[in-house]
Amino acid sequence: MTSENVLRFPENFLWGTATSPTQVEGHIENEWTNFIAQDGGNCRIACDHYHRYAEDIGWMSKLGVNAYRFGIEWSRLQSAPFAPLNQNELARYVDLLDQLRAAGITPMVVLHHFSNPPWINATGGWTNAATIPAFVDYVRKLVAALKERVYLWNTFNEPDTYACVAYLLGGFPPQRKWKLGQFRKVIAHMARAHVKASRIIRREGDAGRKPEVGIAKNWTFFHAYKNFSPWDRTTAFGCHYTFNKFVLDAFLGGWRRKASTFIGLNYYGRVRFHHFRAMIPASGAPVKRLKDFGFICDDMVERYPEGMEKILAYLHRKFQLPVYITEHGAASNDEQFRERDLRENLAALHRSIQAGTDVRGFFYWSLLDNFEWQFGYTKKFGLLAVDFTDEKLTRSPKPLAEVFSAICRNNLVHV
Ligand code: FCB
Repeated sequence: MTSENVLRFPENFLWGTATSPTQVEGHIENEWTNFIAQDGGNCRIACDHYHRYAEDIGWMSKLGVNAYRFGIEWSRLQSAPFAPLNQNELARYVDLLDQLRAAGITPMVVLHHFSNPPWINATGGWTNAATIPAFVDYVRKLVAALKERVYLWNTFNEPDTYACVAYLLGGFPPQRKWKLGQFRKVIAHMARAHVKASRIIRREGDAGRKPEVGIAKNWTFFHAYKNFSPWDRTTAFGCHYTFNKFVLDAFLGGWRRKASTFIGLNYYGRVRFHHFRAMIPASGAPVKRLKDFGFICDDMVERYPEGMEKILAYLHRKFQLPVYITEHGAASNDEQFRERDLRENLAALHRSIQAGTDVRGFFYWSLLDNFEWQFGYTKKFGLLAVDFTDEKLTRSPKPLAEVFSAICRNNLVHV
């Protein structure tokens, strides 16, 4: 291998994995507790990360990562609006953070990842403006409790996906369809909450290391399969406008840009439309048909590594903020495919850094195979497999774990 094939990343680059509470913890009381996924599965036990986090931190150490992005579940910490934090649940998260620190792993904490406490859902969730002060109160208390241990804060994970799948597509609770007004309200309320929460984090969250705060924006490219199809182009433009432009403007447009110190980017790939149909496995398009069309997909969306470079250039031009890749990953049982996908996306990321974008970290989605929302346990994103048929939920590293581990340990990727 010649030196041309070696892409070295900046010093102090964060290499991590990512999870979310509903998808891995188990024993959660939120809107997902009674939700039955397409495969018949539910999140009641999930990976039992709630009890097994020490073991999972052990796996992270074996991988050699230096960062971990995970969520703190609001429903565990407050039982009513403005209530004091539940001290037992807080102690568990504190212990998790202490164990991460002992392992030399930097935490990035996500405050909202597709779930709310039952008392928030009972009053309309994020369609109700009263959710904003309740969330801000929670954040203030949590930041005061954890500021010695956390400096990287991610307020909202993919507000676009949440509002779209819950209020337009009906896939997430409360499973509403085509409620465009509610979609817009959810985004507007979350954006206001982000600005207020960020102010608290920046002002009150400093315990020796300057806090960093941002949202995680999912960026999907929407294109027409046939460029000359006016209908598919219109559909693609409508999606781009609603999920990318409108959402980015709501959170980062104008004076609001100052609320964030970084942008979290969740990047997976693209969706192309053909006769109004989204040509991706996640929308039910048959994999064989997608292959005939020449699409390269994981079990969710089309792969589009050059998009990583395009979106990073765009964000850099528009906002001039540091970026963390807060999620990238592929769901597939084909490990060679996943390895190729990872290397191609990291090569694109590296080109963006060379071109001047300040990218500070990369978090692989996900540490574990887990509860993938409406799809249940069928989408295999993990670096570690979890045996869900076995009571012990045994974890075992997949071939990609070794590949990722070498990248993290050496801070470079061979392409
Ligand atoms: C992202 C979500 C994450 C997971 C991955 C596959 O949209 O943030 O929870 O579902 O996709």
